[in-house]
Amino acid sequence: MTYTNTRVTLASRPVGLPHPDNLAFDVVDIPPLVEGQILIKNHFISIEPAMRGWMNSSKSYIPPIALGEVFRAMGAGQVVESRHPAFAVGDYVTGDLKVQQFAVHDGDSAQDPTNPGTYLLKVDTTLASLETHLATLGLPGLTAYFGLLGIGQPRAGETVVVSGAAGAVGSVVGSIAKLKGCRVIGLVGNQEKIDYCVQKLGFDACLNYKDPYLRAALRTACPRGIDVYFDNAGGDLLDWALERLALRGRVVLCGAISQYNTTGAVKGPANYLSLLINRGRMEGLVVLDSIAQFPTATREMASWLREGHLVTPKVQVEKGIDNFLATLLKLFSGQSFGKLLLTP
Ligand SMILES: NC(=O)c1ccc[n+]([C@@H]2O[C@H](COP(=O)([O-])OP(=O)(O)OC[C@H]3O[C@@H](n4cnc5c(N)ncnc54)[C@H](OP(=O)(O)O)[C@@H]3O)[C@@H](O)[C@H]2O)c1
Repeated sequence: MTYTNTRVTLASRPVGLPHPDNLAFDVVDIPPLVEGQILIKNHFISIEPAMRGWMNSSKSYIPPIALGEVFRAMGAGQVVESRHPAFAVGDYVTGDLKVQQFAVHDGDSAQDPTNPGTYLLKVDTTLASLETHLATLGLPGLTAYFGLLGIGQPRAGETVVVSGAAGAVGSVVGSIAKLKGCRVIGLVGNQEKIDYCVQKLGFDACLNYKDPYLRAALRTACPRGIDVYFDNAGGDLLDWALERLALRGRVVLCGAISQYNTTGAVKGPANYLSLLINRGRMEGLVVLDSIAQFPTATREMASWLREGHLVTPKVQVEKGIDNFLATLLKLFSGQSFGKLLLTP
């Protein structure tokens, strides 16, 4: 059978918010598989803030997407043809399937967990839906798990504040922190997300970071200071969290979405001396560093989900590969809610 594949490639590097001219679409026929290859139909593309960083040419934790290259993206799909003994037609997998309708992988490198670019993880859809394998049981959930438990190290009774709290990573951070017996305060951009974090996720409080009196609201919500700040936002929010840091507080530098489209200098924290005064710690996180421990962490989170200790966050699914850019932009305008996926 011949498969036609629509793909999105990077045409130019954006300045500020990405623009349609930065992307190109092409349609190609997939040649017959050679021995050792597998063909995957991409069911869901994971839309992530990091995609904006991959469009830049600057040095990061992984190489930038090259001009003309198919856009990098985590995805979840199903094997539709296989010429490799380790993969059977019908297997569900997650991995870097890219922004395209079909992906061809080499079956040997697909089994190499040291290479995130080619590694495919077989997923059990009887355990959780394919969407959940890209959300709580995928990279966002694992980011929350390793960032909060590994770097934040929260103890029962401590106050954990998380920005991007209604998002893919933030909602799992808050849920795990509740599981560990912490007081959890979320920071989000609108009332609907505040209600969701408090009523559905069980946060103790949630504040609108656009509130001009946010600093005062943080003081009231965290009277004994912030023991763990899980930072998805950067910018002013990081600064104001540092201002409220408790003695021996920990800051998990997970992301800085407020800064990803900036055309000027990145806004760093002025209140960094709070780390000195409070003997605090601020540490960066790259979830891929923990790839060897992914299976153990996924099993533990799957058992939390099964036992009802962890709330499955919202999943927002948009349709059509043509809508890739419009969907990506939703992350930066606050129009995404929970884990954002695209069906190509
Ligand atoms: N270090 C790692 O290994 C790693 C791995 C995965 C993700 N990350 C990072 O984790 C963060 C969250 O990723 P995600 O996939 O879970 O995205 P997400 O939170 O699901 O989506 C982005 C959300 O960020 C909020 N936002 C947008 N602009 C903002 C601003 N200026 N200030 C504060 N909040 C803003 C919006 O919600 P509101 O309506 O609330 O504004 C938006 O819905 C990102 O910074 C990402 O880069 C890091």
